[in-house]
Amino acid sequence: MMPQEQVEYLSTFLSKGLVDMNAVIDFETGEVKGDAANGAPIFQTTCASCHGFDGRALDWGDADEPGYIGTEANANPWEVLHKILNGHPGVEMISLSAFPLQNAVDVLAYTRTLPEE
Ligand code: HEC
Repeated sequence: MMPQEQVEYLSTFLSKGLVDMNAVIDFETGEVKGDAANGAPIFQTTCASCHGFDGRALDWGDADEPGYIGTEANANPWEVLHKILNGHPGVEMISLSAFPLQNAVDVLAYTRTLPEE
């Protein structure tokens, strides 16, 4: 059974937290309809403190296949947009969901320019 508080978080997410990703990420190609030049200063002032200026301070991969923001954003832009909007489970990470969606999409576009390895 889920505690009442968790049920409320979940229903808030379902009623207010979902976005139409097909409008901002091409379903076939993964191309992101964002402006990397606008996303860069947002990333550098909000994400870089944990992830590093080039997105490589945190690595969730291994020695053979590193997992940086740049790696993830190119492999799975949908997942990364979800995390930019909602954070990452179990860790202290911010969420941009209070701001206009285009800001998160622009950050996503910028992260696709960061090193993948
Ligand atoms: C307060 C620190 C902090 C900030 C600020 C932060 N993150 Fe994170 N983020 C983390 C941590 C910790 C993880 C988990 C890394 C791991 O699994 O090793 C994470 C995970 C992620 C992941 C997913 C990794 C995976 O497993 O797929 C992405 C993508 C990501 N962050 C992007 C961002 C972006 C973009 C921003 C800025 C909007 C941001 N983060 C801001 C701490 C932060």
